[in-house]
Amino acid sequence: MAMPFELPDRAAGVKLDWRNGKMIGAAVQESRKQLKDLAGIFDDEAQRKQADPETTVYQVQWWEPAAPGSEGGLFWGVTTIFPGRVGEEYFMTHGHFHANRTRAEYYGTVQGEGLLVLMDENRHTWSERMVPGSLHYIDGRNAHRAVNTGDAPLIFWACWPTDAGYDYATIREQGFGARVLSVNGKPAFVAHHAENL
Ligand code: PA5
Ligand code: MN
Repeated sequence: MAMPFELPDRAAGVKLDWRNGKMIGAAVQESRKQLKDLAGIFDDEAQRKQADPETTVYQVQWWEPAAPGSEGGLFWGVTTIFPGRVGEEYFMTHGHFHANRTRAEYYGTVQGEGLLVLMDENRHTWSERMVPGSLHYIDGRNAHRAVNTGDAPLIFWACWPTDAGYDYATIREQGFGARVLSVNGKPAFVAHHAENL
């Protein structure tokens, strides 16, 4: 009989807590967006400036096991959007198109409630409800932004191709075709007509 040997474990040691979405491990990267990083993203810029600039709107943890820009790989990340509003507008992610419009993405909700706002290149904008367990397939042509409409953190994982890239500029300059505002205490979709379009 062949001699037994220790089972090789070459995994990168990244772990995911499925109950709260948290990622753990030396290879995990982290970033956060505070109100001071989101100039021009919310409708009510005066309210944004009045609030504490250090307020964290959302944080992202992610793992890049392959080189960004290389073909055929996948990244994994977890976003936590904290509850809050700027004026009547709920805390949300910046939002982006993928630089490569042929690269799709999955989002899956872990905790909390919100809306995934999607917009095609003709500025047609719609949303999908995010609730624990909801799975969202994002076509590579569509801009995407998550909005926390609840009073607890909205946590969702994402999986996207290594060569998707980010086009933040289009959203920074033109926004989405609609905003999610609290109207009479309830989330409502309000058309947004960007200037100079
Ligand atoms: O890959 C994604 O789409 C997500 O991981 C987002 O990057 C994350 O939710 C943060 O949003 P944004 O990149 O728009 O700031
Ligand atoms: Mn994306």
